[in-house]
This record gives sequence, C-alpha cells and structure tokens, in this order.
Amino acid sequence: MKIWGMLLLLATVLWSDDFISEFEYGQMLYQNPRGVSCAPCHGDHGEGAIIARYKEHGKAKVLQGPDIRHSDLATLRRAVLKGRGVMPRYFLTEKEIHALYLYIQKANAAEESEENNASEAQ
Ligand code: HEC
Repeated sequence: MKIWGMLLLLATVLWSDDFISEFEYGQMLYQNPRGVSCAPCHGDHGEGAIIARYKEHGKAKVLQGPDIRHSDLATLRRAVLKGRGVMPRYFLTEKEIHALYLYIQKANAAEESEENNASEAQ
C-alpha cells in the first residue's frame, strides 16, 4: 500500500541524524518548548526582556525576564525543571535541556562574532 511507503519515508527523514542538528532542535525548543516559549520573557536569544509593566500602589513597576546568556547548564536545568517565580516549570528531558543550552550559547557566539566583524570592518 502506498501509505506505508510514505510513512517509511517520513520515519527515515525524521529519525535520520542529520534531519535537524542539536542546535536547530535547541532553537525550536527555545521558541516553543512544550507550548510556552522562553522568548517573550528572555528575548529571542536569551538577552532578557520586559514581560510586563504595571502599577503597584501607584508606582510604576516592570516585570523582567533576566539575561540568561551567561547562565550555566546547572542553573538552566534548575530554572527549567523547577520554575522560578512567574516562570513556569517545564517537563523537558536532559537532552532537551542540553539542546536549549547549546542553542543559547551558539546563538550568542554567532552574534558576538558578527559584532566583532562589524567593528573590524569600520
Ligand atoms: C513567563 C515568563 C518566563 C518564561 C516563559 C520563561 N522564563 Fe526563565 N525566568 C523568568 C523570570 C522572571 C526569571 C527570574 C526569576 C527569579 O529569579 O525570581 C527566570 C529565570 C530563569 C533562569 C535563571 C537565571 C539565573 O541566572 O538565575 C534561567 C536559566 C531561565 N529562566 C531560563 C528559561 C528558559 C530556558 C525558558 C524556556 C524553556 C524560560 N526561562 C521560560 C521568566 C520566564
């Protein structure tokens, strides 16, 4: 039957090692990990972001997601698995946590080298 051929092809594509790299998997997780993205709270690449501005007793307050570009793997694991304040807890595997960590590291390494190249060009 044709459908089995299609399924087999799909399975081969999905499970082959180079279908997506660990970096891309980490990026995907960062953008949509189990439905709640890190990005609105920590920025596109972990640089931090303003989550909300509000007033408390007439005073302007800002709820901010911290810069996590330099958080180490242990800190990231703890934050993700336990949650932190308004940050939800996630049910992610060790591999997924590692992919997330790798994504944040590599995305920022790429940005820093672009910045260096730009300043060298001037
Ligand atoms: C709803 C907003 C929100 C979301 C979504 C969120 N975070 Fe957070 N996160 C926070 C806030 C706020 C803190 C600081 C909490 C505190 O320390 O009081 C934090 C703390 C952290 C820390 C610890 C920083 C440090 O150095 O102590 C890490 C690492 C982190 N988040 C990673 C992530 C990752 C990865 C994701 C996605 C899987 C994520 N967060 C999703 C709001 C969020």
